[in-house]
Amino acid sequence: MQQRELDSTGLHFKAIGLGAMPLSISGRPDEKQAFEVIEAFIAGGGDFIDTANVYCLDDDDIGHNERLIHQALSQIGAGANVMVATKGGLRRPGGAWTVDGDPGWLRESCERSLQALRTDCIGLYQLHAVDPKVDFRRSLDALIKLQEDGKIRHIGLSNVSAAQLESALGLTLIASVQNRCNLFDKRDFHNGLIDFCQARQITYIPYSPVGGHNGHTRLSREPLLLQLAAKYEATPHRIALAWLLHKGHHILPIPGASKAASIRDSLQATSLALSAEDIAALDRLPDR
Ligand SMILES: NC(=O)c1ccc[n+]([C@@H]2O[C@H](COP(=O)([O-])OP(=O)(O)OC[C@H]3O[C@@H](n4cnc5c(N)ncnc54)[C@H](OP(=O)(O)O)[C@@H]3O)[C@@H](O)[C@H]2O)c1
Repeated sequence: MQQRELDSTGLHFKAIGLGAMPLSISGRPDEKQAFEVIEAFIAGGGDFIDTANVYCLDDDDIGHNERLIHQALSQIGAGANVMVATKGGLRRPGGAWTVDGDPGWLRESCERSLQALRTDCIGLYQLHAVDPKVDFRRSLDALIKLQEDGKIRHIGLSNVSAAQLESALGLTLIASVQNRCNLFDKRDFHNGLIDFCQARQITYIPYSPVGGHNGHTRLSREPLLLQLAAKYEATPHRIALAWLLHKGHHILPIPGASKAASIRDSLQATSLALSAEDIAALDRLPDR
């Protein structure tokens, strides 16, 4: 079974995590179906779940995804063995997605996430995005203070550039970087961020790894993906995830799922070995 280490913390996880966002945003499934997704993930050996306080419908619903995950894991009896990585730094006014990296809001968000997840310490707390209205150092200092206070164990960043990551590393250890990355969006391969993370032993977490909430359907229309799916007796989604896994032992994709069948299929990417020739063909697939 392929494993990934979080930074160099000694914490190891199955190489495919669960992106829990589709369980709580607009169009979300009912609770029974959502629990089935989490159950299928755990039954398949999964142990890393990505969430955020803002995976919900709007500001009145903040923490929906975190509460759901906590309830499902408690019901399954798996809570102790699963890393639930959450985030702070956004808001959902009227259902919109806005950035807020104000230190006060980050602290309040973290306190509320601790309650929603019913824990004393969050294993991995990620800054959801850099707020252009707030000095990045102030946002980061808020996370460092939360770590010093024992409320979070490891700090991660999301939606960052290499320059922002480098400046953060001047202040503190960064365990992970979570950016959008998939076969149709290879920016972080081109700009060197993924190699930089590898060199610094930072776990790289590709979000929207099969193309995104709506974009993933494109996989099933790409002739190359269909051809490889037939060759490896797999699905196009599994091929796309296996391609990411082949790109480095520091890469931990978090495919989303609102159906148990989707995450069951995604987990199987960990045992799919693609040939060097096929990886090169996927590398050449044009972005967007
Ligand atoms: N940090 C950020 O700013 C940020 C932004 C976006 C997302 N994220 C995180 O990344 C996670 C994943 O991103 P995403 O949900 O946007 O996009 P994604 O994982 O690329 O695509 C998710 C959709 O693809 C379908 N899918 C996934 N694996 C499949 C499979 N093996 N077979 C068939 N269908 C499959 C699922 O369909 P069904 O719903 O039908 O199961 C799911 O709704 C999110 O859940 C969230 O945790 C983070």
